[in-house]
Amino acid sequence: MTADPRDKLRRAVEETFRKGRTAVSDALLTPNIVIRQFTMDDYECVRQLWEEQGVRLDPSLSREGIARRLERCSSDLFLVAENRGMLLGVVVASWDGQQGWISHQAVDPTSRRLGIGSKLVEEVERHLKALGARRVALLVSRDNLMAQDFYQHRGFHVEEDQILMTKDL
Ligand SMILES: CC(C)(COP(=O)(O)OP(=O)(O)OC[C@H]1O[C@@H](n2cnc3c(N)ncnc32)[C@H](O)[C@@H]1OP(=O)(O)O)[C@@H](O)C(=O)NCCC(=O)NCCS
Repeated sequence: MTADPRDKLRRAVEETFRKGRTAVSDALLTPNIVIRQFTMDDYECVRQLWEEQGVRLDPSLSREGIARRLERCSSDLFLVAENRGMLLGVVVASWDGQQGWISHQAVDPTSRRLGIGSKLVEEVERHLKALGARRVALLVSRDNLMAQDFYQHRGFHVEEDQILMTKDL
């Protein structure tokens, strides 16, 4: 059986947390984080990350669906976070000509609270701004308090006077 390439970092991070997280340990873990465009070679790791978060892998998130998306959309809006070849985070955004949308963000559970999610959002916001976006929006489940805290920390606010309406086509 092939070893999961993220196991080594997972063990290192668990060890760090066992010993007590400090500014020094965070600094040692995060400087090597690289934010870069997704490529199809990342697909298996990204799919695994989404699966671990319970993301429903509908056809648009299949290998073929993602390949089609990359043909249509700017790859600046599909980013991953990597540490020494280990994929630790992902974010997908889109631009509808009016505002940007962020979706499918996930950070490996053993690497959270190290600023990786923030780096991904900062970078995708930079690309959305360059496209002309003056606003960015996202949908969060009502019970996902962790994500709500995270996005509020990143400057997002809840639109109290709006409701989500959807229709299957
Ligand atoms: C939400 C998520 C992407 C955040 O990633 P992350 O790398 O841990 O985020 P950061 O380290 O950049 O966090 C920045 C700040 O956000 C806030 N935050 C992040 N996670 C939080 C949590 N679990 N509880 C409370 N606040 C949190 C904190 O203020 C944090 O700063 P601090 O660590 O200095 O206190 C990550 O927790 C995740 O993958 N969650 C599961 C998937 C998910 O819910 N995705 C969103 C779908 S809408």
